[in-house]
Amino acid sequence: MYKIFIRPLLFLLPPETAHHYTLTLLKVFLKIPLMRNLVRMIYSRNDAKLRRNVYGLEFPNPVGLAAGFDKNALYMDDLACFGFGFIEIGTVTPLPQPGNEKPRLFRLSKDHALINRMGFNNDGVQVISERLKKRKSKIIIGGNIGKNKNTPNENAADDYLKCFTALFDYVDYFVVNVSSPNTPGLRELQDKEPLLKILKTLQEKNNSQSKRKPILLKIAPDLTPRQLDDIIEIAALTKIDGLVATNTTISRENLVTEKRVVESIGAGGLSGSPLREKATGVIHYLSHKTLLPIIGAGGIMNARDGDEKIKAGASLLQVYTGFVYEGPALVKRLCQSFLQII
Ligand code: FNR
Repeated sequence: MYKIFIRPLLFLLPPETAHHYTLTLLKVFLKIPLMRNLVRMIYSRNDAKLRRNVYGLEFPNPVGLAAGFDKNALYMDDLACFGFGFIEIGTVTPLPQPGNEKPRLFRLSKDHALINRMGFNNDGVQVISERLKKRKSKIIIGGNIGKNKNTPNENAADDYLKCFTALFDYVDYFVVNVSSPNTPGLRELQDKEPLLKILKTLQEKNNSQSKRKPILLKIAPDLTPRQLDDIIEIAALTKIDGLVATNTTISRENLVTEKRVVESIGAGGLSGSPLREKATGVIHYLSHKTLLPIIGAGGIMNARDGDEKIKAGASLLQVYTGFVYEGPALVKRLCQSFLQII
C-alpha cells in the first residue's frame, strides 16, 4: 500500500517538504478515535522473544528509529505507533539553529538513497526538553546530542555537557554525535584528544547522578581501521556503554545515479542502500574487537539487511532511509525476521 499509493505521491514533493507534510498529516490522522490502536495493531509485532536487554534497558524489540527523523521530539508519540522498540531524537544542540540553506535533502531514487546536509537544524535543548517532559508514550527515547555550528571545537565539550544536563531526566540513553559530515569540523572530534575530553566530561557528570544513564558514541562509516582502533581504546578508557555504527558517508561509491546528477547535488551525507556494505563492515570490525553492544544503522532496507547487521555483531538496529523508501511495514518485517535468526 505504502509503495504503490503513498510513496509515489510523496515523492512528487521535495524531500524535506514531504517529510514535514507526512508527519503533520500523521499527527492529525492519529487524532481520529481508535486510529492509534488500529495503526499499532497493523504495524507492531509483539513477542516476548523480541525483547532485548541492552545497556540495562529493556527494549521491547530491537528495531529503532535513527536520529534525524524526529530531530525536535515533535512526533515521538505518533511514531511510536509504528512498532519501533525505541526512538532516537536529535541531534539536539544547546542553542536553536536553522541548519543549512535549503534545498539540503535529496533523493537518489534509483539507488534507494538520500543525501542530506541538514546541518543540525533544531529547536535547541531547552524547547526540546520541555517537549520530552510532556510526552505520553513510554517508548525508550535516546537523546542524540551535538554542538552548535558556531561553537569552536575547543569548547565542544561544554556544548555536549549542556545538552546532556538539560536532557538527563527526559531520555533513557544518550548518543554523542561526532560523526555528522554537515557541521564543519565536527568529525575531527572523533580524534583521540577531543573525543577523550568530551566523553570524560560527560562521564564525570553522569557518575555524579544518583543513577547514571548509558552513553553511546555514534561514529562515521568513513573511519580507517586505525581510527576505529582508537575509538575502541577511547571507549574502554572512558567506560562508555556502547556504539552506534554508523552515521551517513561522505563517499559517493556504488551509485547507479548519473555522476552528473550526484555532482550537482554537492556536499552531504549519503544514506540508504549504497551505505549498507560499508556500515556492516564497520560493525563487523568493531564487534570482533570489543564487547560493547552496537546499534547497527546504515542501509537497512529489508529483512535480509537487518539480519546482515545482526550477524555482523549489532545488538540493536536503527532505520531511517529504509523507513522512507519501504514505509512503516519495514519495522514489523525486521522484527519477524529477527525472530527467525535468534
Ligand atoms: C540523518 N542522520 C542523522 N544522524 C545523527 O546522528 N544526527 C542527525 O541529526 C541526523 N540527521 C539525519 C538527517 C537525514 C535527512 C538523514 C537521512 C540521516 C543519520 C541517520 O541517523 C543514520 O545514521 C544514517 O542515515 C544511516 O542509516 P540509514 O538512513 O541508511 O537507515
